[in-house]
Amino acid sequence: MRILFLCGSARAASHSARLLDLCVAHLPSGTIIDRLCPAEISLPLVNPDLETDPTLLVALRALHDRFARADAIILAAPEYNAGIAPFVKNTIDWISRLPWIERGTDNAFADKPVLMLAVSGGTGGALIPALRAVLGYVGAIGFGESFVLPFADAQWDAGGTLTEPALDERLARLTVRFCHWARQKDAA
Ligand SMILES: Cc1cc2nc3c(=O)[nH]c(=O)nc-3n(C[C@H](O)[C@H](O)[C@H](O)COP(=O)(O)O)c2cc1C
Repeated sequence: MRILFLCGSARAASHSARLLDLCVAHLPSGTIIDRLCPAEISLPLVNPDLETDPTLLVALRALHDRFARADAIILAAPEYNAGIAPFVKNTIDWISRLPWIERGTDNAFADKPVLMLAVSGGTGGALIPALRAVLGYVGAIGFGESFVLPFADAQWDAGGTLTEPALDERLARLTVRFCHWARQKDAA
């Protein structure tokens, strides 16, 4: 199984990136991870006037291909003002546009299982419904259970582990259950 790890934060010390790191140990053996970092993506803010730019289209096709090839996506992202960070929304928006720009291109999100991990500076909790709505709109399937890391600055020890064992265990179990579900879907 091939899983796209999408980090929704460009911050060097991102908690979202750390959550993805923790998931790795709980993937089934043989899983191929394709880790996509914001630094790799240089797409401008969505603007239909740019859809004929050949350089942009080369980058967009390559990005679309990474989403299309993934059997599942694990998305870890920050909550910004009770919603989706612009980087995440812009990435989803561009990828969803390619089938409209180039007819015959598949929807890279169609029936794609997505595990959503949300990171908040405070109590958080608003990002998941917002993400679920957008991902559902583009055709992806959000896993029923998701994960919210509240008060993210205070949750880590020096070794990069979550200090609260219950949170750590929940993320581990969730990752295992998600992969099992995504695998069954993939085989169907
Ligand atoms: C523009 C902006 C808006 C934010 N809005 C919220 C918010 O609505 N609720 C919240 O709990 N944290 C909010 N935060 C805090 C971030 O969610 C928090 O810093 C998180 O750790 C960022 O994710 P990262 O560590 O992966 O970069 C906001 C941060 C920024 C920069």
